[in-house]
Amino acid sequence: MNNGSAGHEEEGGAWSGSAGAEAFAAVEAATDWLLGYPFVFEALSRRIGADEVLVDYGCGPGAVADRAARVLGARVLGVDTSAEMLALARSTAPSVAEFHLVRDGRVTGLPDGCADAVMCNHVLASLPTEEALLGVFAEMRRLLRPGAPLVLLSTDPACTDLAYTSLRVGAEGASYRPGEEMPLRLLRRDGTWQEVRNHAWPVDRLPLLLGSARFREITQRRPTVDEALALADPGLVDRYPWTAERAEPPLVITSALAA
Ligand SMILES: C[S@@+](CC[C@H](N)C(=O)[O-])C[C@H]1O[C@@H](n2cnc3c(N)ncnc32)[C@H](O)[C@@H]1O
Repeated sequence: MNNGSAGHEEEGGAWSGSAGAEAFAAVEAATDWLLGYPFVFEALSRRIGADEVLVDYGCGPGAVADRAARVLGARVLGVDTSAEMLALARSTAPSVAEFHLVRDGRVTGLPDGCADAVMCNHVLASLPTEEALLGVFAEMRRLLRPGAPLVLLSTDPACTDLAYTSLRVGAEGASYRPGEEMPLRLLRRDGTWQEVRNHAWPVDRLPLLLGSARFREITQRRPTVDEALALADPGLVDRYPWTAERAEPPLVITSALAA
């Protein structure tokens, strides 16, 4: 196994800098495209209409934002702390309407209540403290109009026992304290593995934090392979046996409404 290591801790945490941007753009994310993103889009589709504004908070290289724009017909705005990620997204995600840099915890150029929905996929694990999580929740709450939905996608840091198709969570069998640094390995499209430092935020801690950041009606679900059969790309479904994903699905969707 060839492990590379990406990212360093600055405002954007892991995946910062141009090396981090290129590294993340090279991951295959099969497990996420099976059990994660399609369920995020499904949750959003029940809440937003065509041409409404969807902010992708921590959009990275923009592949998910681009797909969301095409699947949902929404006007998608990508925001990120990493100028390098935004530069990459600008050149590879043509369906995304606008890009905005997050500076000092605030999205530049977007006013209060401008968003009909926010999605935030695999960003919380980059954040080192609960204060940082609350800061991101507060900024997403600022962007949302009252009553508008937030959908978060996270990897459960307790899922360290199994080898997933495109990811390995932590060291095998290890357990991590809230916020503790934890390695995450992601399969690249060339078959090698990329390692990044994450922080372990237990998924059952998120509702309490969201509640204190003025979100309500907070629900969580853990999509299964059987549910994905009806939702994910059939070519992807057929490509792998999904043995670990069937035994213990590792991704959790947290949904909430801005109070
Ligand atoms: C693992 S990538 C996920 C990218 C994309 N959401 C996806 O699922 O493909 C995490 C992204 O979050 C960004 N990020 C980290 N901390 C952030 C913060 N406080 N605010 C906004 N973006 C942040 C990073 O720069 C990086 O692009």
